[in-house]
Amino acid sequence: MSADTGRLPLEPLLLPLLSAPGLALLAALLLLVLCLRAGRTRRPGEPPLIKGWLPYFGQALKFKKDPLGFMRTLQKQHGDIFTLLLGGKYITLILDPCQYQLVIKNHKLSFQMFTKKIMKKVFSIQKLMTNDDLNDELHDCYQLLQGKSLDVLMENTMQNLQQVFEPQLFKSTNWDMAYLLTFCSSVIFEITFTTIYGRFLAGDRKKFITELQDDFFKFDNKFPYLVSDIPIELLGNVKSIQKKLIKCLTSENIAKMQELSEVVQMRQDILEKYYTFKDAEIGAHHLGFLWASVANTIPTTFWVMYYLLRHPEAMAALRDEIDHLLQSTGQKRGSGFSIHITREQLDSLVYLESTILEALRLCSFSSIIRFVQEDLTLPSETGDYRLRKGDFIAIFPPFLHYDPEIFEAPEEFRFDRFTENGKKKTTFFKRGKKLRYYLLPFGFGTSKCPGRFLAVNEIKQLLVILLTYFDLEIMDDKLIQLDYSRFLFGIQYPNSDVLFRYKVRS
Ligand code: HEM
Repeated sequence: MSADTGRLPLEPLLLPLLSAPGLALLAALLLLVLCLRAGRTRRPGEPPLIKGWLPYFGQALKFKKDPLGFMRTLQKQHGDIFTLLLGGKYITLILDPCQYQLVIKNHKLSFQMFTKKIMKKVFSIQKLMTNDDLNDELHDCYQLLQGKSLDVLMENTMQNLQQVFEPQLFKSTNWDMAYLLTFCSSVIFEITFTTIYGRFLAGDRKKFITELQDDFFKFDNKFPYLVSDIPIELLGNVKSIQKKLIKCLTSENIAKMQELSEVVQMRQDILEKYYTFKDAEIGAHHLGFLWASVANTIPTTFWVMYYLLRHPEAMAALRDEIDHLLQSTGQKRGSGFSIHITREQLDSLVYLESTILEALRLCSFSSIIRFVQEDLTLPSETGDYRLRKGDFIAIFPPFLHYDPEIFEAPEEFRFDRFTENGKKKTTFFKRGKKLRYYLLPFGFGTSKCPGRFLAVNEIKQLLVILLTYFDLEIMDDKLIQLDYSRFLFGIQYPNSDVLFRYKVRS
């Protein structure tokens, strides 16, 4: 992965057009169709419609440049509910957290309709479009990301982390330098893959995982375009990388994995009921699950570490908290990688948890999107609004996360923001009302992320290892910012990588 992660937004659209006239014609036709779609006007009773002058893209470029500033301007002009044209889609946004229930409680809004389209386009999974039973059965597997199954996953995560870092411990006590995003990407990919998919038994395990990881990052780099309306065939070599990844995760290869997690085993059993063993689409399902398990955890880990490196007082407080826990449980740092921390003990590290939540608050720019399945009327506090079938409705949590009425000095990183008198803080207010939803990086309702406990615990475990065994220092002064390529879709990546160094604690 390159040190600089900046991307040109139109690059994948333009490059193939320059090299292939046939594809250029196809793209021009597609653009024409989409421009026609952009020519709609507001009907009586509908929310204010903001299209901008750019056909198809609508307000997407302005939104991407400064999502929060843009939202604040629109809120001043149009209130808390309005419809935006973004990349060929009409999305009605609800900004007021006190009105979120309009989205949660409405059965005419569908999350699955939205994800099925993404599954088809991004991962090449066709069957979910037509088979609801398969979808329901696969959702049942998510229970295996909680409870006792989560304890097993956490034990395996710890072992995998120890295997990654053990060689470092026996090295000399000199500083090692690394790029932070590159470091987080490779550690999180390896431990998550090994925890969930186990170890590849046949052939060279290291080679298998390194190749898989390299291809995965090339594929994921194009994610913002994959979720757009641009056909995958116009995205350079993405289709061939997607095929290669799917081939790596076929039933034959899954059968060669040792220590598969319960959740993947159950998914594989279900998939074998709906497909023949050799059907390549099984690999596509695994690619989708693998993507979900690392794509947001990697940038979250980056931001947690970045903020800690830039805030030594926060790093010291976390180290104290962890050292104190280890002492109180009779564990010593000197005794190799023998640390054992239960889920309850991890849960008691309130400053560690608060730091992760604070990084999520600052860097999550996902939206909670639902598809409008039929024309409907939203009975909001400020009046009724009519919505059209085929549009989308969305909540945009960053607007909540950066609300100064809810979070004092919202632009600042405060590691202890989610603590109060040494305990977890869960009460936040808007207009004097206690908020039910004040932090939404994992979505809510039916679509709430089933991997959230695993993700947060994995990051906690990594930090326990790093802060217990290593000294860490940032090497670059430059200020890193969010790159909004994935706005509306999860945790944002940094606009550039950053150097740091680490050495075994003396
Ligand atoms: C910090 C890390 C993570 C973040 C911020 C995150 C965030 C999200 C979000 C925002 C959604 C969509 C919710 C919605 O639209 O309402 C989601 C869905 C999902 N996540 Fe995560 N996630 C993370 C880690 C994980 C991990 C580690 C796993 C698996 C082991 C996972 C598995 C899934 C799955 C399977 C879905 C789809 C759920 C469905 O189809 O209903 N996620 N995640």
